[in-house]
Amino acid sequence: MSLQFPKNFLWGGAVAANQCEGAYQEDGKGWSTQDISPQGIAGPITDVPTEDNMKLIGIDFYHRYKEDVKLFAEMGFKTFRTSIAWSRIFPKGDELEPNEKGLQFYDDLFDECLKYGIEPLVTISHYETPLHLSKEYNGWVNRDLVGFYERYVRTLFTRYKGKVKYWLTFNEINSILEAPFMSGGIWTPKEELSKQDLYQACHHEFVASALAVKIGHEIDPDAQIGCMVLSLPTYPITPNPDDVIATMEYNHKNDFFADVHVRGEYPGYMKRYFKENNISIHFEPGDEEILKNTVDFISFSYYVSICQAADLSKYNKGGGNIFAGVPNPYLEASEWGWQIDPKGLRYVLNSFYDRYQKPLFIVENGLGAVDELITNEKGEKTVEDDYRIQYLNDHLVQVGEAIADGVEVMGYTPWGCIDLVSASTAQLKKRYGFIYVDRHDDGSGTLERYRKKSFHWYKEVISTNGGSLKR
Ligand code: BG6
Repeated sequence: MSLQFPKNFLWGGAVAANQCEGAYQEDGKGWSTQDISPQGIAGPITDVPTEDNMKLIGIDFYHRYKEDVKLFAEMGFKTFRTSIAWSRIFPKGDELEPNEKGLQFYDDLFDECLKYGIEPLVTISHYETPLHLSKEYNGWVNRDLVGFYERYVRTLFTRYKGKVKYWLTFNEINSILEAPFMSGGIWTPKEELSKQDLYQACHHEFVASALAVKIGHEIDPDAQIGCMVLSLPTYPITPNPDDVIATMEYNHKNDFFADVHVRGEYPGYMKRYFKENNISIHFEPGDEEILKNTVDFISFSYYVSICQAADLSKYNKGGGNIFAGVPNPYLEASEWGWQIDPKGLRYVLNSFYDRYQKPLFIVENGLGAVDELITNEKGEKTVEDDYRIQYLNDHLVQVGEAIADGVEVMGYTPWGCIDLVSASTAQLKKRYGFIYVDRHDDGSGTLERYRKKSFHWYKEVISTNGGSLKR
C-alpha cells in the first residue's frame, strides 16, 4: 500500500527571522538577544553586536525575500513558516506604539507569499527577545513581559488578520529549561538562575501564550493558533525499571509544556516536583482562567531522539538539539553528533496524538550537513545532497506511517528550507536547505542562491503529495 497524505496537507519549509533576515539595524529595528550572541545558543554574549556575528547579515532575506519566495513557489510550497522579529515591531519591547516600517516589511512578505498561494505560518517569538526586555527586565522572569507580549500579539493579529491564518506562540517553548537566555531572554546567567525563577518564567510564558490564543480568536475567529515544542522521544537505555522511571520523569519535564497548552492546567507530576523542590509558582488572580484558552493544534520540531538512565554516570553524554542524553547504540549521528532516528518521528507523532487527540504540525525537521557546491554536466551550480534526500525521505515515510496509524497531521515544514545561520553554533556551514546560499563562516560569499538536488526531489514529493517517497 502506498503512503497517503491528506489532500490539503501543508507542504512547505521553515526559517526564523534572526537566522535569515540580516538587516539587524534597518528600518527602526531594535537589538535583540540574538544580536549580541555571535556564537549561538551556548556561546558567550557580547556588550554590543560584533561583526563576526553571522546573523547580522544572515542570508540577507530582508532584501532578497522576493527571489526566495519565488523559489519556494517553484518547489510548490503550500505554506512557509517564518517568525516575526519582535524588535522590528517594538524595538525595545516596552513602547506603546509599534514601528510602522517593521509591520510593513511583514505585510510585504506575506503578500508575496499569498501571491503564489503560499499560506504564511508565523512564529510570534523565535529566540529573539528585544534586548532591552532582557537586560532591563530579566526577560520572562518578569511578569511585565506578559503585558508587552500581549500588546505585541494584539498588534500582529489586528494587522495581519485575513493574511495569516496559522500562528505559533513561542518557538520550542520547553527549550527555556536548557537555554534560558536564548529562549526566555533571561539575563541572569544559567548557572545562577534558580529553579524558582526559571519555572516562574515558564508560567509567564504560559499565560502569555494562552492570552495570544484568546486575543487571536477574538480578533480573527478563523485564526488557528498552536503551541510549538521541541519534541524529544526519550527511550530508557535498558529495560531496568529504574531506567524506565528515570525516563518517565525526564519526559515529564518536557511534557509539562504541551500539557499546559492543551489541557489548560498544571499536571499533577509538576505539582509534586514543585513541592519536592520548594518551588512555589505565583499565580495572579485570573491566571487559572486565562490558561483555559487552549491551543487549536500542537506543532513541534523533531531532529533527534535520546536515551535516559537512572545512573547517568555510567554513560557518555551524546549531542543533540539543545537537550542532550545518552547516545543510542542503534543509531548513527549527523556530523554535529545529532542521532538520526526516522522511526522516532512516527513514535513521537503517535505519542502526541495518543495523549491529546489534537491535530499535529511538524514545523521543523532536517539534516544539518556540510555541502559542496559543484558545477554539474549541464553547467549549473548545485549540490548533490543525496544524504539530505535520504534523511528527509526516511522521515517522511514515517510521517506517512503515522498518518496510516490514524494520526492527524496538518503539514510538514522542514527546517532551513533555504540555507541560514545555525541557532546552536551560528555557523553557515551547517546547512539544511534545498537552496544553497553562497555565504561562508568567514563572512565571504556573493549571497547568490542555487538549487540543490534536494530542491528537485522535494518539488516532486510535493507535486505527487508524497507519492514519490521511497518506502
Ligand atoms: C531548533 C530551532 O532548535 O533547531 C531553530 O528552532 C534551529 O532555530 C534548529 O536552527 C536547528 O538547530 P541548529 O542549531 O542546527 O541551527
